Amino acid sequence: HAADAHRTDLMTITRFVLNEQSKYPESRGDFTILLSHIVLGCKFVCSAVNKAGLAKLIGLAGETNIQGEEQKKLDVLSNDVFVNALVSSGRTSVLVSEEDEEATFVEPSKRGKYCVVFDPLDGSSNIDCGVSIGTIFGIYTLDHTDEPTTADVLKPGNEMVAAGYCMYGSSCMLVLSTGTGVHGFTLDPSLGEFILTHPDIKIPNKGNIYSVNEGNAQNWDGPTTKYVEKCKFPKDGSPAKSLRYVGSMVADVHRTLLYGGIFLYPADKKSPNGKLRVLYEVFPMSFLMEQAGGQAFTGKKRALDLVPEKIHERSPIFLGSYDDVEEIKALYAEEE
Ligand code: AHG
Ligand code: MN
Ligand code: MN
Ligand code: MN
Repeated sequence: HAADAHRTDLMTITRFVLNEQSKYPESRGDFTILLSHIVLGCKFVCSAVNKAGLAKLIGLAGETNIQGEEQKKLDVLSNDVFVNALVSSGRTSVLVSEEDEEATFVEPSKRGKYCVVFDPLDGSSNIDCGVSIGTIFGIYTLDHTDEPTTADVLKPGNEMVAAGYCMYGSSCMLVLSTGTGVHGFTLDPSLGEFILTHPDIKIPNKGNIYSVNEGNAQNWDGPTTKYVEKCKFPKDGSPAKSLRYVGSMVADVHRTLLYGGIFLYPADKKSPNGKLRVLYEVFPMSFLMEQAGGQAFTGKKRALDLVPEKIHERSPIFLGSYDDVEEIKALYAEEE
């Protein structure tokens, strides 16, 4: 009775993670406690986003953040909520947020064994027009008991133990991987619980959608230009791909994960490292893509093998269906 199971045997995200963590004998529930605080932050932002228009949260907060972007009220609010939730979990030692210039080092009495990098509100240019936005996070473990430093988060993405995003769209969906596949949970507002709705998401090996900001085409390098040309005017008689670009990474990546295809934020003459930030955009989405059977490439190497030197470092990124990313890798290899 699948329907009954949904009603009487709820697979909430907390229960799901407890199951996952029970596979690790040494697990003492710390990760589950950390995740429950991330989930709290997502529920808060979901409710704030849904009320934004009414609660006059829309519009500029007047400050600018480290990225030099006009901070919108929801950016600031979301950042405060996540920092407070993560610190109060007592399970973190270092936090990196897009909205804070410096890393946050948790006071000794509240320190825990995890370091969290996050983008509290992704796609903020879309807040005022009601287009889907999201939160992105990645989790490292602290592997020492000395004073935490930024070295504890300036690690390659292949050392992340978990990553996920929450998309605030027509429904609120949290997509998570703890290294054993990718699983989607939908918020049931009547319960205030994220329920497992998309177990073990696998991205199609090939898709027919490409997702890029064509407005930057005049600044692209050769391989990206050639690849996009191929999507629009295929030489082998195959149908042209569709272009879908929301402008919120969470929405574009979520669609790519479920439908297949490729998402590109290439380098261009104006921004040689592209626009997306390594720690809290590129790494978590690359982690998820690989866990779902896809891949993620920077134009030079596997995205998760990047070793960031600065906490807000950027990188070009090509991620999505395995075969589609293979094609762009081949074009960059030719250029080598
Ligand atoms: P954020 O709102 O967290 O700063 O991120 C915005 C990013 C990402 O969401 C999206 O993929 C990209 O900006 C879109 O950039 P363009 O508008 O240059 O295409
Ligand atoms: Mn921003
Ligand atoms: Mn972002
Ligand atoms: Mn952001």
